[in-house]
Amino acid sequence: MCFWILFSAISVSARTPADEEDCLICHRYPGLARIEQKTGKFRLFYVNPQLYDQSVHGQILCRYCHIGLDVIPHNNVKKVNCATKCHLKEPSTGKEFSHANIYERLIHSVHSPGIPPKLKKYPEDYPRCADCHVNQIYKPIADLESMKPGINKDALRRCMGCHEDKKWTKRFYQHFAHRLHRARAPKELVDLCMACHSDVQKMARHGLEPVSGYKDSFHWKAVLYGDPNAPDCLSCHAPPGFGLDVHSMVPINDPRSPLYPKNRPITCANPYGLQRCHPGATYKFAQGKIHKLPVTLRGEVGLVPEVKTKALKEGVKEEELTEQERFQRKVYYLVKVIYTMLITCVVGGMALHQMMDFYRTVKERKHH
Ligand code: HEC
Ligand code: HEC
Ligand code: HEC
Ligand code: HEC
Ligand code: HEC
Ligand code: HEC
Repeated sequence: MCFWILFSAISVSARTPADEEDCLICHRYPGLARIEQKTGKFRLFYVNPQLYDQSVHGQILCRYCHIGLDVIPHNNVKKVNCATKCHLKEPSTGKEFSHANIYERLIHSVHSPGIPPKLKKYPEDYPRCADCHVNQIYKPIADLESMKPGINKDALRRCMGCHEDKKWTKRFYQHFAHRLHRARAPKELVDLCMACHSDVQKMARHGLEPVSGYKDSFHWKAVLYGDPNAPDCLSCHAPPGFGLDVHSMVPINDPRSPLYPKNRPITCANPYGLQRCHPGATYKFAQGKIHKLPVTLRGEVGLVPEVKTKALKEGVKEEELTEQERFQRKVYYLVKVIYTMLITCVVGGMALHQMMDFYRTVKERKHH
């Protein structure tokens, strides 16, 4: 008992504003961890108080999300539900705040595991809030300017000219500044979606093809090298102008989808977005297949048959081949000869051209 009182007394001074309920008395110790007996999984129950305070949820008390855990030892541990009202007021309407609106969109989107009790098959394959989100930490103010030119480093001082409470002002400044950037860089977004959408087995369970071929595309190369006009997954699957966002995406064959055949020219042109894409896109242009199956997967999923002919194998004698295979081999040799000649002529011709050009340049220089 004495130990407990002493322990609490020390901790009170260290607690964050969000921690009125003293959860961090225990949870601020990095050693608070356990290995699950059944699964052998390592679980860390540590919460860093400084980082938590700096996070987007830093003002919310632990028990508003972790309902019923203010009993010790914790029994009746439930998963956190992001639609829970979190005892904050949303200032523009004064209503009690929660993510119920986003939850509502997600549950009617293509990523809905179904509405309980009527669940779809394999409900565990569908992304939940925490699969796509972590409790993000607001970027340090010093980092803001380096991320995007144009943000005035001195803006915070201006806020403080009127708002005297430093901590309050800093928090709201970060609240705004955090949202002036895209939530995720295109590359991170692609990795997030690919975590599921490149998984052959998982996608096959839902009758979908993996879209890992995106990484063989020019679109991806442009994203990789930072072209702001290159499309990531959301530029095509939930672009502005269709009333959909990442939480309310619909299947391709739904008329509301930006990729439904008649909507595609608009999606390729992207007139409502901030990117400049294919402004003159015609209907026909927009019907091309986007996600080609990567070569490495073609045999595996059995969608495109592998070429199996003895005609092209080395060391197989002429007599072992069938009539058709002999014909294939003839065509192959013919193509090879023509190709070799063509390359020789082109490269040879180019070398000749360069030499003549060099000769001419040297001659003219002497002349002048
Ligand atoms: C007296 C110390 C103590 C206090 C105070 C405490 N916890 Fe815990 N908490 C623990 C321990 C120990 C565990 C690990 C339990 C285990 O091994 O299953 C834990 C586990 C948890 C877990 C993970 C449960 C699971 O199995 O998924 C959550 C969530 C949690 N605590 C939230 C809270 C919240 C919220 C508060 C404040 C309302 C709180 N804790 C206060 C000691 C404490
Ligand atoms: C905005 C809601 C929210 C708030 C506020 C919140 N948590 Fe959590 N916490 C979660 C979610 C979501 C998970 C993931 C597990 C789940 O889905 O239940 C989690 C998991 C945990 C875990 C278990 C980690 C594991 O590996 O299983 C602990 C311990 C924990 N939180 C402690 C805290 C403490 C202490 C606080 C207050 C300082 C806090 N949480 C505040 C949402 C929240
Ligand atoms: C498939 C992944 C995915 C799932 C599942 C998901 N989100 Fe999101 N969420 C995103 C992405 C990506 C963005 C950023 C969108 C953008 O940049 O246009 C986002 C943005 C947000 C934002 C805006 C954040 C900001 O600072 O602007 C909130 C709030 C949010 N999500 C909450 C939720 C909640 C609550 C759930 C669960 C009901 C959820 N999300 C489920 C991917 C997801
Ligand atoms: C010229 C003085 C001035 C400057 C500079 C200023 N504010 Fe304000 N701010 C006010 C006044 C006055 C109000 C209340 C009246 C209103 O709502 O328009 C207010 C209201 C707010 C509110 C709403 C508070 C609430 O609960 O309704 C926030 C948040 C806020 N300011 C943040 C900021 C931030 C962040 C900056 C810097 C980027 C900033 N302000 C710069 C004067 C200023
Ligand atoms: C946790 C796994 C997971 C993550 C992460 C995920 N998805 Fe999905 N996605 C699925 C599953 C499972 C389906 C199959 C839904 C069905 O058919 O019921 C699906 C279906 C889709 C479809 C519908 C295809 C069709 O026409 O039927 C689109 C589009 C899609 N996802 C895009 C995305 C994008 C974009 C992201 C990234 C923001 C993403 N997904 C992240 C699991 C995931
Ligand atoms: C340039 C636009 C574009 C981009 C970028 C894009 N998609 Fe697609 N996506 C399409 C089109 C169009 C289709 C319809 C089928 C096709 O043409 O391949 C589609 C189909 C899909 C499908 C359904 C596949 C099936 O088997 O029916 C999923 C899932 C999907 N995309 C996810 C993603 C993910 C995840 C990303 C990011 C890695 C992404 N898409 C990037 C345009 C795009």
